[in-house]
Amino acid sequence: MGHHVIILAAGQGSRMASDTAKVLHELAGFPLIAHALRAAEALEPARIIVVTGHEADAVEAAVAELAPEAICVRQEEQLGTGHAVLQAAPALAGAEGQAFVLYGDTPFLRPGTLLAMAEAPADFTVLGFEASPEARYGRLVTEGDVLERIVEWKDADEATRAVTLMNSGVLRGDVQVMLELLAEVGNDNAAGEYYLTDLPALARARGLTTRVTRCAEDETLGINTRAELASAEAAFQARARAEALETGVTLTAPETVHFAMDTVIGRDALVEPHVVFGPGVTVESGARIRAFSHLEGAHVSRGAVVGPYARLRPGAELAEHVHVGNFVEVKNAQIAEGAKVNHLSYIGDAEIGAKTNVGAGTITCNYDGVFKHRTSIGAGAFIGSNTMLVAPVRVGDGAFTATGSVITEDVEPGALAIARARQVAKPGLATKMMARLRALKTRN
Ligand code: UD1
Ligand code: CA
Repeated sequence: MGHHVIILAAGQGSRMASDTAKVLHELAGFPLIAHALRAAEALEPARIIVVTGHEADAVEAAVAELAPEAICVRQEEQLGTGHAVLQAAPALAGAEGQAFVLYGDTPFLRPGTLLAMAEAPADFTVLGFEASPEARYGRLVTEGDVLERIVEWKDADEATRAVTLMNSGVLRGDVQVMLELLAEVGNDNAAGEYYLTDLPALARARGLTTRVTRCAEDETLGINTRAELASAEAAFQARARAEALETGVTLTAPETVHFAMDTVIGRDALVEPHVVFGPGVTVESGARIRAFSHLEGAHVSRGAVVGPYARLRPGAELAEHVHVGNFVEVKNAQIAEGAKVNHLSYIGDAEIGAKTNVGAGTITCNYDGVFKHRTSIGAGAFIGSNTMLVAPVRVGDGAFTATGSVITEDVEPGALAIARARQVAKPGLATKMMARLRALKTRN
């Protein structure tokens, strides 16, 4: 029996003051909803259902890309968290097992916490945390181990507001029982909403057991404002840097390095100051990422050196001991073992063979204004400085292109291609020309 996860993401997030849905704002290089989906995936769920509402089209497009297996359902009107979960009912018809409810705007839930909830000995378990009594969260009212009910801050009397065990919003229980109970929830409360939080009391009335699983407050942090988004980013980065250091990555100035949610860096890699990792980067053991480099969607193998000031874009594949130097941009290109592209180059839609040297200022001219074309360079080749490789074009193994060439035709293995105008020298002409110009200047 698998688990099911329902992620609530229909709310407007009006305090973001944004035309973009709250769950699409980015944290660590990924929209907030991606963080919730990642937490969900730790449960290896049979079904993931995302409840959308505000900016539903955009949210659904993002979900389709991030988690194609997830099903989106719409909540046309945002009538409350309980109502939101009920929208998942058709998508959960016939489903068996446990359902988890998560929020799309709560990015820091740890997989271990969800697994602990899965194993908690109760029919229903709610994730709670301790916070100071000023916080306006729903209160978890307990009697011993039993969760008696949840009271929203708005509906709580003074004694209940003094409770410091807060509702995170995350809960778990039998999928069909949850949906049945939610159908009983009314909206006779301070907010006039259908509260998901009515569920534990209804479950108890049926003789089901209800408990609290506890976690740290920062794990349930929800994003409501840009300021909270910024401090969540800072919290994420602090944690990612600490983790990198713990796992054996050298960061010479940790506070200047920015990671994405999915950055993977191997032991004994070294990252110099001011490096930004966008989504989809893997750096293997012993690679060195030099200062001021920007990487996304790239794979850097063992012993490779990137930067300073390099840009690796999606599809950049660097094999072992490749060097990509300053002001070099690499996109959708495979660079084989030991090859070097050290200065001022653009390598896009290309493959470069092992041990090939690409001279300064070389550019793969991959775009004709409509289509992208590939450049293929063999192993052990030498691409002279400032070579323009007009794709589609192939340069064979061990071939050589002369400096300043515009290569429009394939170069055979072992051949030397020169594609530039021949130099013409005019003895004495420079001196004569300058004299004439100076004379002109004194006359005017
Ligand atoms: C909710 C809980 C509260 C808890 C707090 C934790 C209820 C009634 N209250 O309050 O006990 O302490 O979260 O942060 O559940 N959403 C929808 N559709 C709706 C309403 C909300 O999808 O109709 C989504 C929102 O987008 C958001 C989440 O549900 O991701 C929580 O909604 P929000 O309005 O922020 O709930 P709170 O009032 O904060
Ligand atoms: Ca909230």
